[in-house]
Amino acid sequence: MDTKTKINPEKLPLHVAIVMDGNGRWATTRGLFRYKGHERGTKAVREVVEGAAEIGIKYLTLYAFSTENWKRPETEVNLLMKLLVSSLKSELTKLTENDIKLNAIGNIDNLPAPAKEELLSVIEKTKNHQRMTLTLALSYGSREELVKTVKEISVKTKNRLISPLDIDEQLINNHLYTHNLPDVDLLIRTSGEQRISNFLLWQIAYAELYFTDVLWPDFTKEDLYKALLNYQNRERRFGRTSDQLNE
Ligand code: IPE
Ligand code: IPE
Ligand code: MG
Repeated sequence: MDTKTKINPEKLPLHVAIVMDGNGRWATTRGLFRYKGHERGTKAVREVVEGAAEIGIKYLTLYAFSTENWKRPETEVNLLMKLLVSSLKSELTKLTENDIKLNAIGNIDNLPAPAKEELLSVIEKTKNHQRMTLTLALSYGSREELVKTVKEISVKTKNRLISPLDIDEQLINNHLYTHNLPDVDLLIRTSGEQRISNFLLWQIAYAELYFTDVLWPDFTKEDLYKALLNYQNRERRFGRTSDQLNE
């Protein structure tokens, strides 16, 4: 029996987030420029998006470019931005065929104009799609998001639009880039690194973490399904005892 058929469709995580890591190493171990790894990484994106939609994942969030990634050499950053534009252009048809809505989180205003424009155009064209929400984290950093949130709430408080007593988890959530997304249930990171790298710190409070040595360009639907199966064999207790869950 293959992995897909073992997955219980009733117990799928609502929101899967992935730190797509290992493109550079995929390329350099083959004697190629890092850029080739990013290029191959887009193939993995296509495959995983399709695989997630097929099995019935409702929210898929992919970490594509972090606030820290701006520190990379300018040539690599420029190539990544060009790759983003060409992928957005080429994937619109697939997103439409598969009824997938594109969404973005992060400081989008920092993107070069062509990338920002293409992104906003695809978001607009796919806004009524229903099957799955695909969120790209671009120029995203959790700390930047939290700073932005605190500033916005402070301004509202100062202007007396809200009272400090109104500040609760829901209000904070409403000011995050992810305000229209549910909490992350499963966080996957490829390439053997076991760290969060400033991704969705608030939103992964109770996520199940899954690390795999597979480098992102080699990641397939089958790898996604392995992660989903692993997730389904865990007991999510949310602070309670095991006995309470089975009562
Ligand atoms: C992930 O692959 C892609 C981005 C961060 C843009 P990396 O480029 O980080 O690949 P490694 O970690 O150097 O192998
Ligand atoms: C995290 O990968 C960011 C993305 C996958 C976009 P990095 O490769 O940038 O992470 P660190 O810096 O090694 O932790
Ligand atoms: Mg990396």
